[in-house]
Amino acid sequence: MKDIDTTELSWDEWDELKDPRSEDNEFDAVVERAMSRRGFLSGLMVFGSGAAAMGTGLLGSTSAEAMTASSRFAFKPIPIQTDFTVHVPEGYTWEVLVQWGDPLFSGVPEFDHANGGLDAENTARAFGENTDGMELFLIGDKQVLAVNHEYANTKTNIPGHVDGKAGSAADTLKLQNLQGVAVFEVAETADGWSVVVDSPFNRRITHNTPMRISGPAAGSDLLKTAADPTGTESLGTFNNCGSGRTPWGTYLTCEENFNGYFGSTDEGFERPADFVRYGINLESRYGYENFDERFDISKNPNEPHRAGWIVEIDPADATSTPVKRTALGRFKHENAASAVAPDGRVVVYMGDDERGEFMYKYVSNGVYVPGGDTSTLLDDGQLYVAKFNDDGTGAWIALTPEATGMAEAEILVYSRMAGSAVGATTMDRPEWIAVNPVAVEGYCCLTNNRNRGVKPNAGGDDTSVNGPNPRAENHYGQIVRWFPANDDHTADDFTWDLYVMAGNPTVHDDAYAGSANINEGNLFNSPDGMQFDSAGLVWIQTDGNDDNEGDFEGHGNNQMLAGDPVTGQIERFMTGPQGSEVTGLTWSADRRTMFVGIQHPGGFFPGAEGDLPRSAIVAIKREDGGLVG
Ligand code: FEO
Ligand code: CA
Ligand code: CA
Repeated sequence: MKDIDTTELSWDEWDELKDPRSEDNEFDAVVERAMSRRGFLSGLMVFGSGAAAMGTGLLGSTSAEAMTASSRFAFKPIPIQTDFTVHVPEGYTWEVLVQWGDPLFSGVPEFDHANGGLDAENTARAFGENTDGMELFLIGDKQVLAVNHEYANTKTNIPGHVDGKAGSAADTLKLQNLQGVAVFEVAETADGWSVVVDSPFNRRITHNTPMRISGPAAGSDLLKTAADPTGTESLGTFNNCGSGRTPWGTYLTCEENFNGYFGSTDEGFERPADFVRYGINLESRYGYENFDERFDISKNPNEPHRAGWIVEIDPADATSTPVKRTALGRFKHENAASAVAPDGRVVVYMGDDERGEFMYKYVSNGVYVPGGDTSTLLDDGQLYVAKFNDDGTGAWIALTPEATGMAEAEILVYSRMAGSAVGATTMDRPEWIAVNPVAVEGYCCLTNNRNRGVKPNAGGDDTSVNGPNPRAENHYGQIVRWFPANDDHTADDFTWDLYVMAGNPTVHDDAYAGSANINEGNLFNSPDGMQFDSAGLVWIQTDGNDDNEGDFEGHGNNQMLAGDPVTGQIERFMTGPQGSEVTGLTWSADRRTMFVGIQHPGGFFPGAEGDLPRSAIVAIKREDGGLVG
């Protein structure tokens, strides 16, 4: 283990290194099943079964040469890249909107490339690290972006770090201030897009920002700590990954790999079963527990229960207290995709991004009325978990005390265990979920799962190949979609198919070649970020292997593609710098600019040689000023 540079590991790899799952599955049998052509084809690729047929002319007026006769894409697809910058199609431009360390308030000093950027105090007044999920809100005539800062890159953020950990209280505070959420106004002038420094909307939310805990688990014994005997007030939001927006215009930030922030100063601390299930370890990723007792599980064993939630933030009020909504369950939340059902109830779809974990759905009891009271819509409702059958049907199973044998607060705090109790389907790492605005259907990126068919999940559940997760040792990923019964997102039943299975037909001629809509021109792996545009095209962002060798030859750097739900056509729109993940997508109010996140780029992006690489949001436009989504 001494030879491994842990700062280079993804959260997934870090979990596997520090808390490996035991190997006790029957390997041969599942591989045989996965490799059977028949099994591979079942439930696959029936396009248009639930999607509305769309007209042409998407993305506004399109240049004729950029479109083929049958395509709805307003761009000429681009080839893969392996360099250290961003590429977009002919007729499009990109510029940097904001990058790590850029000031949100005046008085922030110039970014110091030789010394890790900014000090701890100024870090909390600037754009943070590792931009991820984001949403743009039109508030009056102002455009306000809410953006997640998922984690830190200690290699560049903390000069002199040891094994990626904070070596002092000051380092700890800086790491805590680099992460969380940024909310800030943006504006476009003749010189392009920029942050409106000192706007009254601007704020940074960090690992120390006061939060309110609401919903059925609030106040339960599981959430009480010495500092908060009420179990209703916590500090900070952690590992903010994907995002969502409510129908009433608030931001949802999603706490993903929260487990990695807690550790123990007592090596003899015995982890309870739920810590094992959630990967809460004796060793944290950044060493917070050595300088901030709140993160020491031997002293504050309930503190980790106060992370792993969906957090609602009002972007219109920089003084508002973010709210942790316990009714939506606790797991490694990727994102939160909302829909309003025909009767007005609010549905939120959510994925738990770990190998062999589950997909969830929340349905409010109350109905959404524009302009009405929305304060309890995410507190009072029912949490469900998904069960997929191999025959293309499926059901949402209500996580009730009767079904699970658990008390309500336990179901919400230990949602994974509740899902196991009802036999939920183990998935290949659910990343973003997106809901089609022009058809009643949901999509989920199942990014990859090298443990499929190899090891059970952390709860010991069976991870043999199954319908929507048909390949053992799945390192390419797929996108599953479901069609709710009666065109109603609150329905218990659904049918499903696979929209795409990523793969490599130039290397494989079996299931690992990918589905029929994968070809040499659109190779990618590990679909992750995903958003629909207003016209019903699905934009897919990747976070995968970008070494462009072997199984991944021809995949190039991580990228963003556009998919047509009706025809299944998928084309490459953008490539990111080598080393980066492309994640986070939203649009300006007039939909003439697309904002895309570039996380942990390699090289010197977006600066010059010798600069520290910095996560950034880029603004992409059409040269003719046309719509981009
Ligand atoms: Fe933060 Fe699952 O991506
Ligand atoms: Ca992600
Ligand atoms: Ca990912």
